Amino acid sequence: MDKKRVATLTLDDGRSVELPILSGTLGPDVLDLHNLSKLGVFTYDPAFFSTASCSSAITFIDGEEGLLYYRGYPIEQLAEKSDFLEVCYLLLNGELPNATQKAEFKSLITHHTMVHDQLARFFSGFRRDAHPMAVMVGVVGALSAFYHDSLDINNAHHREISAHRLLAKVPTIAAMAYKYNIGEPFVYPKNKFSYVENFMSMMFATPAEEYVPNPVLVRALERIFILHADHEQNASTSTVRLAGSSGANPFACIASGIAALWGPAHGGANEAALKMLEEIGDASRVKEYVQGVKDKKYKLMGFGHRVYKNMDPRAAVMRQTCYEVLKELKLENNKLFELAMELEKTALSDPYFIERKLYPNVDFYSGIVLRAIGIPTNMFTVIFALARTIGWVSQWNEMIADAEHKIGRPRQLYQGAVKRDFVAESQR
Ligand code: CMC
Repeated sequence: MDKKRVATLTLDDGRSVELPILSGTLGPDVLDLHNLSKLGVFTYDPAFFSTASCSSAITFIDGEEGLLYYRGYPIEQLAEKSDFLEVCYLLLNGELPNATQKAEFKSLITHHTMVHDQLARFFSGFRRDAHPMAVMVGVVGALSAFYHDSLDINNAHHREISAHRLLAKVPTIAAMAYKYNIGEPFVYPKNKFSYVENFMSMMFATPAEEYVPNPVLVRALERIFILHADHEQNASTSTVRLAGSSGANPFACIASGIAALWGPAHGGANEAALKMLEEIGDASRVKEYVQGVKDKKYKLMGFGHRVYKNMDPRAAVMRQTCYEVLKELKLENNKLFELAMELEKTALSDPYFIERKLYPNVDFYSGIVLRAIGIPTNMFTVIFALARTIGWVSQWNEMIADAEHKIGRPRQLYQGAVKRDFVAESQR
């Protein structure tokens, strides 16, 4: 039997405590800090630089090596050989489906893509020019007001139904948010299409004209969905877990994840990266722009990552997809892409970026692909939210299924005023 490994922590007053050292199946060992309470101290680790907030069997990242695995399968293999619904099944259930399971899952999701007709009325409460992410936060949260029959989070079957509903309906809501924004009528889902084709049809068809899917563009969007499906304990996933830890229903939890994803440091980065490329405008301005980054006037959007200190493995797949899409659309001389390549080359050879291990992340390229497919910039983060829904719901389900789970409750290092007596208004 393995000898129990411990680390001993000794405070400056001589008191000490043993902290068990835990090993995962992959990745660095972690110290179990439960025993710290015996000393009456907490750890201080803002932004979770050195803290695992949970244990999980879903996704593994090695940031130094640039590895990303879903349930043990490398992301490059899944992006090349699998499809999005199969990846969803894998994330949710832990194993790849066999042919029968796959067909059943596809049929199940396909037959739940419509939303309650009354849900459509929510949209008219938003201004037409509302950011589609604002609409997503509201309308996905509103799903909890419609599907009362599956809200018992302690019932595994209810959790499964909610997961399927979210996976099936979020693309419909995302496409509705877009159609509302541009003033076109909503397009109903069509069961003859694949998951990705159906989303594109709801986005691009009109009552006057059917959408005819282009297989190269469908495959590109499928890859974007696969690459964004999960990414272990990032800001939005941790938000979903924390919201869920209180027992909140899954639709509300996913809405909280959408809100956390919206920021430019997270899901908003591909929108910000494309805007940045447009702002630079021409390859001749790259050097000057990079100098501004080095002078800390702004950040290079689509570069850097909290975990990856090597090439983001998703970025390599996305760069290849970028070539394929631009070739298919005969946009090889696309100015933004040329500019992006110049920016990438300049940054990767500059000591500022080399020393800080700043490499392009997936969002550096995904914006160019999305733009080429015809998806407007303000929908980029919505696409990310759509793809990440399966990761959020899988992580939420894993947490709730763990009988030991408790409400999440971080502590703090208090730096405020010490106790003082109330001062009457006339004396302030
Ligand atoms: N451009 C220029 N400098 C940067 C960048 C950047 N994109 N990212 C980090 N740095 C610098 C930063 O200024 C700091 O320098 P110094 O040591 O001189 O103070 C150093 O690198 C370390 O950065 P940090 O801010 O401590 O790193 P972090 O782990 O807190 O931030 C990040 C990670 C992703 C928020 C950040 O790199 C960033 O803002 N990148 C741009 C936004 C972006 O592309 N986000 C998408 C991430 S991938 C999609 C996802 O998973 O959500």
